[in-house]
Amino acid sequence: MTSSKYREEKMPKPKDSKEIMDRKIEHLKIPLEYDVQHSKNYFNDIKLIHHPIPEIDFEDIDLSVKFFNKKISAPICISAITGGHPISKEINEILARAAEEENIIMSVGSQRAGIEDPALLDSFKITREVAPNIPIIGNIGIGQVSDATFNVANFNKCIEMINADVMAIHLNALHELVQDKGDISYKLFRKNFQKLREIYKIPIIAKEVGTGFNQDLAMNLDKLGFDGFDVGGTGGTSFAAIESKRNNFDNQKYTRDPAEVFREWGIPTPVSVIYVRNATQKLIIATGGLKTGVDIAKSIALGADIGGFAFKFLKSAWKDRKSTSVSNTVKEIRTLKNELRSCLWLMNLDKIENLKGKKNKYIILGKLYQWLNQ
Ligand SMILES: Cc1cc2nc3c(=O)[nH]c(=O)nc-3n(C[C@H](O)[C@H](O)[C@H](O)COP(=O)(O)O)c2cc1C
Repeated sequence: MTSSKYREEKMPKPKDSKEIMDRKIEHLKIPLEYDVQHSKNYFNDIKLIHHPIPEIDFEDIDLSVKFFNKKISAPICISAITGGHPISKEINEILARAAEEENIIMSVGSQRAGIEDPALLDSFKITREVAPNIPIIGNIGIGQVSDATFNVANFNKCIEMINADVMAIHLNALHELVQDKGDISYKLFRKNFQKLREIYKIPIIAKEVGTGFNQDLAMNLDKLGFDGFDVGGTGGTSFAAIESKRNNFDNQKYTRDPAEVFREWGIPTPVSVIYVRNATQKLIIATGGLKTGVDIAKSIALGADIGGFAFKFLKSAWKDRKSTSVSNTVKEIRTLKNELRSCLWLMNLDKIENLKGKKNKYIILGKLYQWLNQ
């Protein structure tokens, strides 16, 4: 079993906002201090097709795309990371400022803490305060939506907290399963979601957090009324791996920690993009193990609309906390844009639309090919 200071300090059972706050800070620090990334990244098995004579000027390439009713400068999303702690407020402020400066999408982490404890609201509200123009995605968990005491007014609170453009409902079954006292009953999810759908016009996307979507579920949720998907597949941050570094495992009951056994569980991000695109024409955000602008280009070629990054921006924001500026995060966004623009130039494409879902622009090799051809 891995030793960690998080295991050594006996954490109390999560039941009040202090405990939610403790958990938030552990979730931020563990990925920075330990390797909790999936071991296999399938993006390496995709090759984009090179075009030797680019006939467009590099700077003329247009990376801008529409995200629901707003235009953004490039198909990049800062994925849901945090909220509900004073440090989360700092991180969210840094990320939102950088996203506003670069005109890309910003997401907040689960807003449950803000609903349960008004003292924690400012860690979410700050995003809209510093980023009045960009699209901001709100976030609530399947566990909250599935609760027997679920109240649609709480959904409204999430929207109002940040003046959200879009809401994401995160599906994190594995994470809930391997964490202490997780929410693992989703029987009321569809019924409660339908209530939301009838009342709210705001776009709602279904978001995985690192274990990916299968095709049937995407088809089903499309019919249920979701407006888009964040595939959140394997290849990047593993929430089971994060939980394995916390103090969850009851070795009185089991011989092995399920959080360690299931750390690689799930559907790889590129596979999940293909599955979801086969199921729906709606918006797709590819998140989970994207590392560069080349991975955004690969995701778009497979059929995604946007590339999302959590771990990368957690790292850049953490650095920016020390430098009292948002320069590392802005530099990271500019780096991603430059890499994406470089892909388009080397493929002789003048805009994102000409790459999207184009099967003749890439080939698939290795394990990814094997997965897709089973
Ligand atoms: C520290 C941390 C906290 C996260 N919290 C949330 C969350 O509250 N809600 C959510 O939908 N996803 C959350 N995620 C998942 C990410 O949005 C993303 O789907 C996942 O980390 C895969 O992307 P990555 O490989 O770029 O990290 C979190 C990820 C990290 C690293």
